[in-house]
Amino acid sequence: MTTKTFIIGNWKQNPENIKKAVTLAKGYVALTKNYNLKTKNLSLGIAVPFPFLSDVIKTVGKNKNVSVYAQDVSAYNGGAHTGEVSPTQLASVGIKNVIIGHSEKRIASDTNKIVAMKVENALQNKMCVTLCVGEEVREKEGGAHLAFVREQLNSACKNVSKFETKNLMIVYEPVWAIGKNAKRVATTDEIHEMAIFIKRELMEIFGKATGNSIPILYGGSANGENTKEIFNIHHINGLLLGRASLDIKEMARIIKVIPLEAAIASKK
Ligand code: PGA
Repeated sequence: MTTKTFIIGNWKQNPENIKKAVTLAKGYVALTKNYNLKTKNLSLGIAVPFPFLSDVIKTVGKNKNVSVYAQDVSAYNGGAHTGEVSPTQLASVGIKNVIIGHSEKRIASDTNKIVAMKVENALQNKMCVTLCVGEEVREKEGGAHLAFVREQLNSACKNVSKFETKNLMIVYEPVWAIGKNAKRVATTDEIHEMAIFIKRELMEIFGKATGNSIPILYGGSANGENTKEIFNIHHINGLLLGRASLDIKEMARIIKVIPLEAAIASKK
């Protein structure tokens, strides 16, 4: 089981220009120098809008503690797909990581089928995939949220081989807990229930050992205040952050409260 921690800032459609993007990226690089990420076995990621990828990659330079992610990728690796960006194009500017199936993309256009095609295309082209899943609404009773996530997971993983799972992470993001219109923050019990459920589903799909080795992250109104509590949850290996990712001081608060690798290993 992995004890590596992933903290990924999803900048979404921010900031508004390249200058601000480079300044923000410099802030992330500085974080890796101010806090000892190695002892936490912490990998810091930033998911950056397409036009800023090259400059952010240059800003990060050889710093191995920061990984740059694209926020999406095409379901195809070339050809007549206006507005789409292929894995090969991303690789050519140094991008190896991609988020797929973020709820904002799913709401705009991405069906389960499209998400599955993107996952397959990205993995086949040697990218590392961070796959987002999560229910849109949470009923007070019943297991509709579990069935919803089961469907998302099974369809996205349908064409993924056991071997390819080493390049796969799952993020549980309940849609109702994301962004400034979030209804409320997910409780630790809700996150725990879903983390166990996702783990079981992954074990079902890929077999016990392989399924168990796939990291599970949480996203949705995570911040410096609630990070510690979320990290105490069994099976949670990291966070995907939206609003907090645009504020370096908040990111520093988050990194500070992440426990050391040894402390995590003894709990998970
Ligand atoms: P939030 O966004 O942290 O602003 O709720 C999370 C996300 O959409 O990944």
